[in-house]
Amino acid sequence: ESGKLWGGRFVGAVDPIMEKFNASIAYDQHLWEVDVQGSKAYSRGLEKAGLLTKAEMDQILHGLDKVAEEWAQGTFKLNCNDEDIHTANERRLKELIGETAGKLHTGRSRNDQVVTDLRLWLRQTCSTLSGLLWELIRTMVDRAEAERDVLFPGYTHLQRAQPIRWSHWILSHAVALTRDSERLLEVRKRINVLPLGSGAIAGNPLGVDRELLRAELNFGAITLNSMDATSERDFVAEFLFWASLCMTHLSRMAEDLILYCTKEFSFVQLSDAYSTGSSLMPQKKNPDSLELIRSKAGRVFGRCAGLLMTLKGLPSTYNKDLQEDKEAVFEVSDTMSAVLQVATGVISTLQIHQENMGQALSPDMLATDLAYYLVRKGMPFRQAHEASGKAVFMAETKGVALNQLSLQELQTISPLFSGDVSCVWDYGHSVEQYGALGGTARSSVDWQIRQVRALLQAQ
Ligand code: ARG
Repeated sequence: ESGKLWGGRFVGAVDPIMEKFNASIAYDQHLWEVDVQGSKAYSRGLEKAGLLTKAEMDQILHGLDKVAEEWAQGTFKLNCNDEDIHTANERRLKELIGETAGKLHTGRSRNDQVVTDLRLWLRQTCSTLSGLLWELIRTMVDRAEAERDVLFPGYTHLQRAQPIRWSHWILSHAVALTRDSERLLEVRKRINVLPLGSGAIAGNPLGVDRELLRAELNFGAITLNSMDATSERDFVAEFLFWASLCMTHLSRMAEDLILYCTKEFSFVQLSDAYSTGSSLMPQKKNPDSLELIRSKAGRVFGRCAGLLMTLKGLPSTYNKDLQEDKEAVFEVSDTMSAVLQVATGVISTLQIHQENMGQALSPDMLATDLAYYLVRKGMPFRQAHEASGKAVFMAETKGVALNQLSLQELQTISPLFSGDVSCVWDYGHSVEQYGALGGTARSSVDWQIRQVRALLQAQ
């Protein structure tokens, strides 16, 4: 006996290089627990269908528990014929309970088995990642609430745009992450569909009750078509895309912070716990945590693109190409877990330099507000924009700050300017104007915090 699950029709041996090339055990052993879980449910299905006696089922269940125990204790010994986790677990089961083990795979194929395992594994992982994501969002909202009176420059095109609350910046990133969280729940819903009982391609001919399997494994639904079920990896692609988009958001936040912690900006200081030094330049403190978050986005996106490339050339149903889905899933899950925890650490330990943030604000950033001042006096916005632009030009030509123009000078641009224009030059007054929901006024920032907290609570 070759020790292979498929040895019967083979006479010649497999080239050792091919043997290694074909094997997935090096990474799919991550699935040991869900593989046992799936097999236990399946043996219950077999017993209900009359294909196992109660005694045989109990023997198998007991044996599978033993297998799991060995994995959990680190005593499970792989041998050189263990092609993948399914082969390894069944081989060990047979060593433990004898020939009855050979009945477990009745009507089942590794095609429906592996995709069941992967769905079970990803379902659990989604819950873990969802928890970590919420932890990060909570950290950000706490920070936003504590620091909502800190003002600093908002940028578009990386050019000074308008004064905003620091909390408004934090919340802009937190809100993007709430969409990622929502999206993950959606993906989890589609992961939570059971393919077991689909066999290799045609279905199950032995009367196994798939509803019973669904209930045993606590899935939300069963797959509709056995050909589709054994080969579709939409749920993997969706998971990888979810991760790619979430990483895009985290990369953007990291990039902002990398800029903000330069000497040139000096808005924030990264904690030593999330920085590293230079082996050559003693003064250096580098934001490696943030740079690595930024770079992992590329790695995750690569895995997503890679899987889609693998899928795009396939004919229908199971092809061995699909074995490659697992490394992508494991790597991306590990990466997301690490990134979310590091991001939480970075945000919770970050120091802000409130003074520098305030000093970075400049009167030119109030040019929009100057236009709104004229609008409030009755001028159409287009004219007001033009008038404020003229004031900016006048200040630039005279080599003074916008708020240094005298009332007389402003009145040469428009007679609508009067003494109360001095109010425009107050940054606190500026941000408070943006009170419509979603804006940077205190009331609106508080509203945002309440909204995100409500989402947190609903978790
Ligand atoms: N190790 C395989 C995988 O990960 C299991 C399925 C093998 N099926 C097959 N027909 N060779 O996809």
